[in-house]
Formats: sequence, structure tokens, C-alpha cells
Amino acid sequence: MKHYGIQILWLVAAQIIVSSFAVQAERYIPSPPVYPAPMGGMIDGEWNDAYTKARAFVANLTLLEKVNITSGTGWQMGPCVGNTGSIPRLGFPSLCLQDSPTGIRYTDLNTVFPAGLATGATFNKDLMYLRAKAMAQENKAKGINVLLGPCMGPIGRAPEGGRNWEAFGSDPYLQGVAAYQSVIGIQEEGVIATSKHFIANEQEHFRQHQEWVAQGFTNLSEPYSSNVDERALREIYAWPFADAIRAGTASVMCSYNQVNQSQACQNSYLMNGILKDELGFQGFVMSDWNGQRSGVASVLAGLDMSMPGDGLGWADGIPYLGSNLTIAVLNGSVPIWRLDDMATRVMAAYFKVGQDPKTYPVPNFSSFTLATHGPIYPGTTESPSGKVNYHVNARGDLSREIVRAVAQESIVLVKNTKNALPLSGITKLGLFGSAAGPSPLGPNGCPERGCANGTIGIGWGSGTSNFPYIMSAVEAMGIEAINRGMTFEYVLDDYDLTTAETLAATIDTAIVFISADSGEGFMVVEGNHGDRNDLYAFHSGDDLVAAVAAQNENTIVVIESVGAIDMESWIENGNVTAVLYAITGGQDVGFAINDVLFGNISPSGKLPFTIAKHRKDYPVDVMYKVEQPVPQLNFTEEIFIDYRHFDKYKIKPRYEFGYGLSYTTFNISTISVTTATGAATDEAPALPPPYSAVVITNETLPHAKSAVYPADIPRYPKYVYPYITKSTAHSIKYDRSSYPYPKGYSEEQPTLPSIVGGGSGGNPALWEVLAVVEVTVANTGSVLGAEVVQLYIAYPEVKGVEFPVKTLRGFEKVSVAPGQSATVSLNLLRRDLSYYDVARRNWLLPRGRYTVLIGNSSRNITEAGSFSF
Ligand code: NOJ
Repeated sequence: MKHYGIQILWLVAAQIIVSSFAVQAERYIPSPPVYPAPMGGMIDGEWNDAYTKARAFVANLTLLEKVNITSGTGWQMGPCVGNTGSIPRLGFPSLCLQDSPTGIRYTDLNTVFPAGLATGATFNKDLMYLRAKAMAQENKAKGINVLLGPCMGPIGRAPEGGRNWEAFGSDPYLQGVAAYQSVIGIQEEGVIATSKHFIANEQEHFRQHQEWVAQGFTNLSEPYSSNVDERALREIYAWPFADAIRAGTASVMCSYNQVNQSQACQNSYLMNGILKDELGFQGFVMSDWNGQRSGVASVLAGLDMSMPGDGLGWADGIPYLGSNLTIAVLNGSVPIWRLDDMATRVMAAYFKVGQDPKTYPVPNFSSFTLATHGPIYPGTTESPSGKVNYHVNARGDLSREIVRAVAQESIVLVKNTKNALPLSGITKLGLFGSAAGPSPLGPNGCPERGCANGTIGIGWGSGTSNFPYIMSAVEAMGIEAINRGMTFEYVLDDYDLTTAETLAATIDTAIVFISADSGEGFMVVEGNHGDRNDLYAFHSGDDLVAAVAAQNENTIVVIESVGAIDMESWIENGNVTAVLYAITGGQDVGFAINDVLFGNISPSGKLPFTIAKHRKDYPVDVMYKVEQPVPQLNFTEEIFIDYRHFDKYKIKPRYEFGYGLSYTTFNISTISVTTATGAATDEAPALPPPYSAVVITNETLPHAKSAVYPADIPRYPKYVYPYITKSTAHSIKYDRSSYPYPKGYSEEQPTLPSIVGGGSGGNPALWEVLAVVEVTVANTGSVLGAEVVQLYIAYPEVKGVEFPVKTLRGFEKVSVAPGQSATVSLNLLRRDLSYYDVARRNWLLPRGRYTVLIGNSSRNITEAGSFSF
């Protein structure tokens, strides 16, 4: 194999399969072809050991065994939502891939953690890390090899986006920090983290065309194309993935949608180019479930694993990989080195986190039944049966502590007037609204949490988990209120305004619970196809607030929501004295609400998204209707999402990104800004180190006969096997000239990474500290509290480049006792201070004066400093 530079050809429509649909706007370059797939193990560093082991392992494998570890066995063909083939000869098990980023999906005796968005709202790095660690401990206890999280896309460009709650908030820096902490936490426990969804998977509508054809959108022929410019692709959408890769994420999931006219899971520009070359990703890329839309093309474009294995149609048993990959390698369409690289990447991930077939638990649950006994392969009609659930209690001490701590710190107090909170000096308390209480169907009464008829702990879809319990506010607050000598009454019917008004008129304090829910696009809940239809509270929540507030001048509103809601009809009502936001707080959400309302803790959450006054104030809305067979989502807002948009157009939001009140007061002062001595501050970063030499594992191709189904294995209908039939074996001819490779296709591995690549997460120079900012935070109030110091950068002017008014580039949460102060130190990396220059295809450090803005929200800036390069 010769070594040349990677081929980046800016050719239109040269991908093997691209949408035939015309590109809408010239600024979105159709994804250009990038070949070959960079082999894993060419970056020197923390993956070295893993690659040494992985290569030795793969060198011993047969063709079929290699195929097996890259292919899923099919939907419901094993205990987990994804199961790879196994290698019985070596005692190497089928790998178990399992949702979700919120808690283990489809099992029992697990924890439902606060979701990603709640975790983002804590702005607490330690909690981000510990939550992931606790989650991974549970995954390991259940025998899960690969945890399908963290989720850092959607980033939340549209506030109605159905799965925004699974990720950490509407800013790439916040998402990046949370992703980094999560990957470290998960993998330290020996579980493979999956950073998903790569990339620009920002709405549910039309994410997969089959799913939406079934929902009545019959003219669709392909998933939507997110048309993203080169700068936003890197500064917004790929940014958190760089952090995850820097943290060593061992797998990445490509998404359902197309990006710039090419399916994300067969897009060589994204997988070979951005992920494996620019970001130096050394693990494996798996498809989202049935997100793969081709066989050979996807493999050449950088896909390493097909999930759940049957790819053409859901659960049809017809694979893109499996036996078809065996054929493609035997006939030469897929070069053997690519298969070796796929298998080596999977095994490197396995060894990187320290898994070992001798010690790592095997799955002890079934995703498809909670009964103790059942079919082992529920996806096939001829499945053997046996004990499938061992009901292992996965919940340990760490989970117990962390689940409540994250929920508490995720609560954001947005309004507090007339000393309404914390509750004190009242004797008659009343709660209103269904979200205050338990669902009449129980915590798990709705499949995949697809209903909104009680406390909202998380949204719906694959990002969910079975609740061991869910603590509602009525349950948590009843005991506390009674212990404090209060009367405690409630009306949980959202629509019975008369009864609500009657109670509201007779009590000291009324707490109205309203909610909004969303989830994954395969379910429709109250008319919402995944994405929310609007930003209003569900169940006419605004009417309930108005009715209660008309009767009670101390009305407090609690919002249990998956994101921003429109609160304009009541927020300025003088009787609405306080408002708090509980953002998908998991199983302990009621405890957390209770703790904040009664003042057991001081609230310290900050909004991980902007709440606008009007829906039209946001830069983006979901595309709900489509006239074209391939919906075109033009990301015309470019890098100006969320607060960047509000700043740019001087729109006053109701509550800005980063905002949240406390029961104490803080003073942030004495900013000091120092540039790092000795750091290189040239406009362009130093060139990255060259790749290390390619290592070929084993290039011998067996005879096709060796791939034929052995006589002695059971052949379950629809199960995905690597074997081929005798007649196929007979007809296979090795011929490397007949596959229609795309124009510009190459198999020459690069010796040099692209200038932005060369290290895990990108050019190592991007991670150098160029400046350090310090401030003092004093608690000037009377109770213990925690404050989030937020650092925003205003960049120097660069001709022809527009920067946001300010950009989040640092935060730290500190807990400070009354009368005390603490020093916060924030590092600014070259990456934080650079922008992606499209023409030079590099991260550049602007020349001139940088302003450092420090505050406790994106609009409450109280300290400023500067430095220049
Ligand atoms: C589809 C979802 O998009 C993904 O997040 C999930 O991990 C897979 N399904 C598996 O359930």
C-alpha cells in the first residue's frame, strides 16, 4: 500500500449515492468525496496499547469472524438493542450495545438519571462526570459493553426539536464540556461510550423517510438533508464531538439524516474526512438503527459497524453487511484492509476501555421482555427459549447520590419576587396541575414514556429507561409540608378550572405545575410527532396558571419541560411571584423540586437554552411540512444559534442562556487575565505530527468455499449471519475493476493528517492553553449557594468574518458559604480563541484584541478584561 496525502476532491455529486435532489443554496457544498478511510492506529498516543492488542487479535481472525464483529445480528436477535456476531472459537462474545444516555433502556432495577439537558443545566463538571460514571457502573452490572450515549446532537438549534432534552443544551462549548466529562466517566468504568448523533440531526420530522411515510408523508423518498456551511459544521456541530474524541470516546454513531446531500452514514466527507482525519477519531463508527443506506459505499466512506444489522428494512433480516460484506470482500469490492481496519477499530475500542472476555459480565437481561423466561432471539420465529432476565439490581451507592444531586442542581429559578421562595411563613399550601402528581398509569404505563399525564422526568423514545419509581412533587412535598405544620391540598386535573379556583382562593400559596414534553419521531404523543408542535405548555397550562393566579396573589409556577416554553401570557402577572424550571430531572425530580421550594438547598441551575418572548424570535423553527421528496433543511443561521442570534439581532429574550437565580447573592470581582508564557500565538497553529506508518494486519483472502454456511449451525430465519450459500461461493469472482468506485476514490493511505488533524480531537496545538482568566466569587448573601462563573469571548475584528457578539468559552461552578469567597481559574485554549477559516481550511487565531466577558448569564456581564495577539 502506498502512502500519499488524503484525497479531498471538491467534486459535485461524486459520492457513490448522493441525493439526486438539487442543492438549494450555493453556500452548501455537496459533501465532497474523501477517500480512503484513514486506518485506525496512525496517531501516536493513548490508543497505542489498544491498537497493539487489537491488531494481534484481528491478525488471528478468519474473514467470517472479522465480518461478525462489524455486523449486528438483526433487530431482536439477542438481549440488547444491538448485538454483534460472536467468535465462539476464541470465546469472544457478541457485544451488547444498549440505550440510553439517560439510563439503561428496557430493563429493571436501574436508575433513570436526569437527562442530558438537566445535566447541562447544572453547569457542574463534577456532576457531569459522576453521573456518567454511575450510569456506566449500572451498564456494566447488566453486562452492557457499549453504552449508546452521551448524546450531544441535537444541539438544539430549533427549540421544538424532539430530542433536544437528550443532549446538554444549545451551545457547542457547553455540549463539549459535558460530552468530555461523560466519556471520561463512562470509559473509566470500562464501558465503551458512544458519542451520538453525528451529525446535524436537529429535528425529528423526516429524519428517516420510511418512518415518516408511515406517518402520512407519502411523498418522501429520502431523509432530510441538513445543509450546513463549513464553518458552522465545525464550530457548532462537530465541536462537541472533538471534545468527546479528545476524551477518548471509543465509538461514534452516525445519524439518520443526510448532510449536504449525502446520507450521514455513508458520507465520506464526514466519516473519513472530519471524524477520522480532522478529529483523529480512533474508535469505530456505528450506524444509527437502520440509518445505513448502502453496503459497500458506506464501508468505503468510513462506517465500521452496522446496527442493528438488518439494514434494508426494519427487522427484515436483510443485511447491508453480514453475508453481503463477506461477498463484497471476496469479490474485491471492499478491500480486505478496510475490513481489517473496521474489525481492528472495534477491537481497539474494546481493549481501550479494558474489557476482557474472561472478566467482563455478559448481558443478564432481555430488552424485549421483563419476564424471567422468554425467547433468546425474539426477532425470529424459531428462537430457542430460556432464562433471559436475571433481574440484577444495577443501582449502587453512586447512582443513589448522583441522581438526586444532579436533579437538585438542574433546577433553574427564573423569577422570585416578594420573597416568595423559599417557602416560609405559610400554613396553607396547594398544588395544581397533573404534572405535580403521578401518572394514573404509573411510572412506566406508557411505552417508551410516550405520554404526558403526570410528572415529566424525561421525554419519550429511545433515550428513555424504565423508572424504578418517579417521585412526583405531590408525593415529595406532602410529607415535608405536613411535617412543617402546613395544610396540604391539591387539584391534579389540568382542565377543572372551577375546582382549582375554589382551592386557590382559600390558601396562602398556590403552586401550579405545567409541563411540555417531546421525544423521538417514531411516536406521536398528543399530536406531537417527536418535535413539539408549539412552545406552549401542554394541556392548556397557561389557562390553569391564569385561573389560579386570579384567585391567589402568591402563585408560584413550576415548569417540568423538555425545553423552552412560552410563558408570556402570565410571566408579568404580579400574582405570579416565582417561577422555577425543572428540566427533565429524572426519577428524583419531585425530590429536587421539593428541596428547592422549601429551601433545603439554594437553586444553582442555569438555563442551557434561551427562553424567547415569542416563537418567531428564535432563529430556527422545525420544518413540519414538506413538498419535496427530499426535505432540504438549510442552516441559514450559520453559527448564530440561540443566544448568539438574540445578541446579533438585539432581541430581548424573556430569559437568556446561562440565566438562573439563587437564594443568596454573589459578587464576581477582581478579574485577572494573563497570557501563557512561551505558548505559540501565531495566527495558524503549528503543523500536526505526521501519521505513524500503516500497519497491515493480514491481507490474505480465503477461498470463498470457507465462507459457506457450516452444516452444524442452526439457521434462524432473519438472523444475520456472515456466511454465504454454496451457490454464491461458487459464483464469486475476485475482480477489483468492476465495482463503480466514485470518482476520486483512492486506497492510498495518507502519511500526513490534514492540517487541522493529527491528534485525538484535532491538531494537538489547538488544545494548548493560551490565556488564563481568574476571578473571585464572594457569597454576599446569607445562605450557602453555588454560582456559575461564565466566560464569554468577544473576538477581534477579522475582515470578512462575522463573529458572535459573545461566545461561551469557559464556565465553572463554585459552592461558596455566606461571607466567604473563592477563586475561579479558567483556561482558554487556542481552540477557544480560534475560528474556522473556510478558505484556508484551518483554525486561525485572529490578530488583535480579545475581550473577556465574565458574568453569571449570557447577558449579565459584570467583569471584563482583555488581551491581544
Ligand atoms: C435510534 C436512535 O436515534 C438512537 O439514539 C438509538 O441509540 C438507536 N435508535 C437504538 O435504539
